[in-house]
Amino acid sequence: MSDIRPVLWDDGKIQLLDQTALPLKEEDVICEDVDTLVDAINRLVVRGAPALGVVGGFGVALAMVQGERENWDGVRLHSEIARIRDARPTAVNLAWGVDQVIASVNQGLSKVLELAHKIAEDDESANRTLSKHGADWILKVTGKTKLRVLTHCNTGSLATSTWGTGLGIIRELHSRGAIEIVYADETRPLLQGSRLTAWELAKDGINYLVQADGAAASTITRGLVDFAVIGADRIAKNGDTANKIGSLGVALACKEAGIPFMVAAPSSTVDISYENGDSIEIELRSPEEVTNLHGVQTAPQLERGFNPAFDVTPAKLISAVVTEHGVAEPSQGQSVEGLVK
Ligand code: MRU
Repeated sequence: MSDIRPVLWDDGKIQLLDQTALPLKEEDVICEDVDTLVDAINRLVVRGAPALGVVGGFGVALAMVQGERENWDGVRLHSEIARIRDARPTAVNLAWGVDQVIASVNQGLSKVLELAHKIAEDDESANRTLSKHGADWILKVTGKTKLRVLTHCNTGSLATSTWGTGLGIIRELHSRGAIEIVYADETRPLLQGSRLTAWELAKDGINYLVQADGAAASTITRGLVDFAVIGADRIAKNGDTANKIGSLGVALACKEAGIPFMVAAPSSTVDISYENGDSIEIELRSPEEVTNLHGVQTAPQLERGFNPAFDVTPAKLISAVVTEHGVAEPSQGQSVEGLVK
């Protein structure tokens, strides 16, 4: 199951599987300079918090290669690295990935590359471990052997180094014969659920249906779902979780229906420098992503769209936060601090 790797280092370049072209075309964007990489991050050619962490590490290496080619001084190099670090604000992993390697710039490219590759390797291993923890937990608390699960956005291989977080748990449950169906929210406005999650589920032969985001609350409260699982872009110390816009609505519906709402992420997404989610910066994207669909105008005025890309779900609505270090139950008052080592 799933050997998709959305970010690769290829001899001085970063190779990205172009997620804006999926599911219709599988093609790569090759980044040979910082401008191309920053543009790719902004356009969501590469996206998903853990994948952005990998990009942060390799991005520093890319800036060093370009700097060598173009004779940059140290000031220029660091300002170009800062552009990568700041390209998107909500997912902590992008800045975290840069910060993992930046102190080693003075030790040269091979050291930076060694650390960047380690970010990718550690992410895969974290995802595989957290998937087992999440599967064990949900089978135990529901007492069921076949699960109907709802998920939002894309938390699979495409959003990570490979394997996935929320979708990793679904893969693990599927490998244990425990998935009946996955309801994949389409995830407006950029359709990460229908374009990407459905693509990954179909590849792995996991039974799924894509539904409009507006269907989620009803699907949940009508009793068609046993639990919901999402990923995370930043998890504060108290468990408040920033994730794709629409996650909060799913959590509220789960609370109403009395079913578990689970957040899955590697520990690199837990940011205990934030006491709670109140001050997490929410990326505000172009209005036209809402008022224009694939080049067709869908509202009278293109500029009158409101497009926050993320929301924050309060800890009290989160039944479980799962990382590679285990499971915490924020809605029961448990802190997520033990999930970071
Ligand atoms: O705007 P995106 O597509 O980068 O948003 C991604 C999400 O919100 C994911 O759910 C999150 O990053 C977790 S990915 C394992």
